[in-house]
Amino acid sequence: MEYEICLEPSGICFMANENQNIVEAAKAHDVAIKHGCASGSCGDCKGTILSGESEQGPFMPLLLTPAERAAGMGILCKLYPRSPMRLRAEVISGNIWNSHIVSLNKLAWNVLELTLKPENAYPYRTGQYARMAVPEHQDQWRSYSMATPPQDHGELVFHIREIPGGLFSQWLFKKAQCGDSITLGPPQGDFALHPEQNRPMLCIAAGTGLAPIEAIIQESILQGQNRPVHLFYGAKKQADFYHLDQLQQWAQQYPQITVTPTISDMEDTHWTGARRLLPSVAARGHWQNHEVYLCGSPGMIEAAIDLLLSHGVSHAHIHFDAFAPNG
Ligand SMILES: Cc1cc2nc3c(=O)[nH]c(=O)nc-3n(C[C@H](O)[C@H](O)[C@H](O)COP(=O)(O)OP(=O)(O)OC[C@H]3O[C@@H](n4cnc5c(N)ncnc54)[C@H](O)[C@@H]3O)c2cc1C
Ligand code: FES
Repeated sequence: MEYEICLEPSGICFMANENQNIVEAAKAHDVAIKHGCASGSCGDCKGTILSGESEQGPFMPLLLTPAERAAGMGILCKLYPRSPMRLRAEVISGNIWNSHIVSLNKLAWNVLELTLKPENAYPYRTGQYARMAVPEHQDQWRSYSMATPPQDHGELVFHIREIPGGLFSQWLFKKAQCGDSITLGPPQGDFALHPEQNRPMLCIAAGTGLAPIEAIIQESILQGQNRPVHLFYGAKKQADFYHLDQLQQWAQQYPQITVTPTISDMEDTHWTGARRLLPSVAARGHWQNHEVYLCGSPGMIEAAIDLLLSHGVSHAHIHFDAFAPNG
């Protein structure tokens, strides 16, 4: 069955098949509803159901607050129509930014630091991410978080993990050169430093999930905040870590910052530090009064949310950015 879907306030209408989610159906008609992961993990495709019947597929817990659910909001990349519908949904502008690669630095065996210089100012908030068109496949886009707060010289820094068979990361690791062009979509995402000055921060980052967490910690330093920050940084094995020196330097320079690196490889006998990310978090503190920032795989984030809720942290104080595979 096909149904007509109309979006407000844009007034755009298109047809959607009952097996197509709303984001996908819109895309098939060249309508770009704002979205990030397209897999129910980031929340960027939230919209409000104004009328009509639908089926909501599964999505990451806490993406919708109780108030948003009560207001009829849904996750449009997992919403399937069952009748004609009217939805309030953000349609993104066709704005794109041309940028070129300023530098490529290896941070770890499977992580590159990519620095881009957009031709025009790229105004973003600390913690947000950019969608990048895959060079040679300009209809394919991938999401990457800016790893620093906005900088005066306008450059954008990313930490990019190599994915075996990955369209974008394989191009970046195998072919990219300084000076190559990369097209960017508008900055997106609500992951950001929350201004409750008096609440200590618990940050949990796994792998390149460190990127927006580093940006948020830097932002709190730049704002002159001296509330305690405890960063747990997880990797599978020692060789996967990057920026450990920089994090240790922050911890020495700013006494309010504590860094606990953890590895999950139980067979590495050379590692004398903590093991296993979430059990280390559970063992090391009482987190009820903390503002929590999580970034890593959707699985890690779901497990961390369960853990934190069971430790009495309230929904309102848990913020996360899930690095889901594209689509
Ligand atoms: C909001 C957001 C921000 C992100 N920020 C970053 C970031 O700063 N740094 C970063 O390294 N990544 C980040 N990611 C994840 C990144 O966008 C995806 O991993 C992306 O799919 C990689 O593109 P690719 O072309 O290399 O691989 P693809 O061509 O997309 O994927 C190739 C294969 O690998 C699988 N795959 C892709 N990514 C993953 C993954 N992460 N885990 C497991 N399997 C995977 C795919 O399902 C597919 O089968 C972010 C994701 C989101 C949603
Ligand atoms: S785009 Fe729908 S949850 Fe990420």
